[in-house]
Amino acid sequence: MWLALLLGLLLSRAGDFLALPRSDCIVAEQLCLLDSICNATYRTLENCDLAKTRFIALDHDSRVRCLNAELYLGNSSLLHCKCHRRMKRQEHCLRIFWTVHSSMTDGYFNLETSPYENPAIEEHWKTDYNELAALVSGSQLAGDATNPCLKATHVCNLSKKCVRLRTEYASICTRGVGSEDTCDRRKCHRGLRNFFEKVPEDFTRRILFCPCQDELCGERRRKTIVPDCSFQYSTKPNCLWLLDSCLEDHICKSRLADFQQNCQPADMSSDGCSQHNHAACLQAYMGMIGTPMTPNYISNSSVEVSLWCTCESSGNQKEKCDQILGMFEGNKCLENAIWSQMHQKLTGLERQKDLYYSPSLSFQGDSASTSLASEMSQVAEVKTQQDTSEHSSLPMASSVYSGAAVSWPSLLLFLSLLLSPL
Ligand SMILES: *[C@@H]1O[C@H](CO)[C@@H](O)[C@H](O)[C@H]1NC(C)=O
Ligand SMILES: *[C@@H]1O[C@H](CO)[C@@H](O)[C@H](O)[C@H]1NC(C)=O
Ligand SMILES: *[C@@H]1O[C@H](CO)[C@@H](O)[C@H](O)[C@H]1NC(C)=O
Ligand SMILES: *[C@@H]1O[C@H](CO)[C@@H](O)[C@H](O)[C@H]1NC(C)=O
Repeated sequence: MWLALLLGLLLSRAGDFLALPRSDCIVAEQLCLLDSICNATYRTLENCDLAKTRFIALDHDSRVRCLNAELYLGNSSLLHCKCHRRMKRQEHCLRIFWTVHSSMTDGYFNLETSPYENPAIEEHWKTDYNELAALVSGSQLAGDATNPCLKATHVCNLSKKCVRLRTEYASICTRGVGSEDTCDRRKCHRGLRNFFEKVPEDFTRRILFCPCQDELCGERRRKTIVPDCSFQYSTKPNCLWLLDSCLEDHICKSRLADFQQNCQPADMSSDGCSQHNHAACLQAYMGMIGTPMTPNYISNSSVEVSLWCTCESSGNQKEKCDQILGMFEGNKCLENAIWSQMHQKLTGLERQKDLYYSPSLSFQGDSASTSLASEMSQVAEVKTQQDTSEHSSLPMASSVYSGAAVSWPSLLLFLSLLLSPL
């Protein structure tokens, strides 16, 4: 009813599709189905897409039909529609997006085009994170301040939604671990996606990107996503195999396109990212968790992340394989984004509430000065670590880095070829 009203309004106000603002693909599809020509065109594209995913060769007439359908849609709002990261019926929306986009001709489209709305446009809702965090700092638990990962979990435990969804994936993902039967990876992935989609980012970002000083904390951080089930397989597959299984899945393909768009490194950029948006890159990284291409920390003592795959014995595809791996390993944009998140200063509100909720003045004084001192030494420590590692391994680091920067466009080309029509 409401939708019909909205559609009527949109139709009456916009004579042609071009005049419409960018809309979500579900609305754009509805709009298209109301128009008999657009409807027919869209149905044609669906069939082209279907044939493509089943690797059925099209005859000449069908190809022409698909091409004409593309050209016609090039005029409609469907072409410019996007999906929201936390929307209902997200899979349906993404399917529409890829139906329209997978049929584009070579070079017209590449995986750099995220199906997701620009993060800045999506509404941000206020959370009670700071107040809950202050409760934790002010309580006896402040003794754990040296383990920020534990603290982030405590804060999560104070939010009903956060603790519920975290407990949910943890119990799914740990089921079967250690016993004869293996865990259900698909369910574990779904649980993780649910957690990262539904829990406000204030919580998820701090849980995943907590700054650690020791290995105990680092181990906790590495285990956040229950890697035994969600990340590691018995043997490491080839990264191109991992990519293939990702591209077969609308959600994974979409998240990868989003990651590629928002975490694309740029040599000349001071923040390391071509989009200059660290928050968007972290959001895109978190979007990959719970897909067949789930990334994770690979050690207890560093913040390096990677995929569970290898490029050994890739033969003549070695270069392409390294490019896939290089999207996560040694990606300057992603590294910088994680680094800034981990060394983010407490917000003014957080500090203020810290004082306000403290049960005892002397305790508060101690913990505040200790944590401030440790925070500062930590920043200094990581800075020197970064500096030394950059100096000591300069030739290698720079060659890897420039390699990644050069190969990124060709990776896009490669991916677009994979996705190109018959
Ligand atoms: C759209 O196309 C489908 C399949 O061809 C058809 O069943 C349906 O009636 C059409 N709808 C409109 C509004 O034209
Ligand atoms: C695109 O829309 C314009 C104006 O509505 C129309 O004149 C033109 O023929 C359309 N092009 C195609 C390929 O349908
Ligand atoms: C958080 O809650 C879960 C489930 O209730 C519990 O197992 C876990 O120990 C709690 N963790 C912290 C750090 O309080
Ligand atoms: C992390 O630490 C645990 C406990 O010390 C150890 O068993 C595990 O192998 C370590 N993992 C990595 C990836 O370093």
